[in-house]
Amino acid sequence: MRIDIISAVPELLSSPFNHSILKRAHQRELLNINVIDLREYGIGQHKQIDDYVYGGGSGMVMMMEPLVNCLKQLQQNIKYDEVIYLTPDGTKLNQKLSNSLSLKSNLLLICGHYKGIDQRFRDQYVSLEISIGDYVLSGGELAAAVLVDSIGRLIPGVLNDETSALTDSFQDNLLAPPVYTRPENFEGLKVPKILLSGHEAKIDEWRYEQSLERTQRLRPDLLQEE
Ligand code: ADE
Repeated sequence: MRIDIISAVPELLSSPFNHSILKRAHQRELLNINVIDLREYGIGQHKQIDDYVYGGGSGMVMMMEPLVNCLKQLQQNIKYDEVIYLTPDGTKLNQKLSNSLSLKSNLLLICGHYKGIDQRFRDQYVSLEISIGDYVLSGGELAAAVLVDSIGRLIPGVLNDETSALTDSFQDNLLAPPVYTRPENFEGLKVPKILLSGHEAKIDEWRYEQSLERTQRLRPDLLQEE
């Protein structure tokens, strides 16, 4: 999979993809992430990428021209399955959406700044708008990093244990069961006996019951979803 990210502050994205699971995905050539500096497509001597809001009001808006020039240059070589704009008024990200995006080949993410991007760009070129939650970040970069992380770990071959992404919370709309590791007894706090029994079917059953109980208690809304 290839993910290109257009950003006005590419430095914000220099670290999140160079560690742990996403680093392995890159090393295994399963995920290729390219961050493109929008400033390189800025206008004039000052490489301008934003301007005042028509109609008045505070804040700046990211301009059409740099975004369109950048997109067109990228599209000369790549056909994107989705052009995604990260924005607080987009569709709220959930596991189902990450699952479906992990099956795509080429994604383009666009990070907004200031008051956001010119509406005409959204109307003309963006195929999907995604929010990572009902709060406002100062730019789309951290949201893009969250999205890439949630997609990247689902690409087959990225996680060592092939089944482990499928047992995460939210797969099947259930929260994950509790997990424990050594020691068996920490200052009187004991690991549930069933997990030490070696009885695989009983352990599976216990984990399912725990998942269901946790979901009912903590996130009953998930059980209403299709
Ligand atoms: N940009 C600013 N806030 C955001 C959010 N909550 N989700 C996605 N992109 C954003």
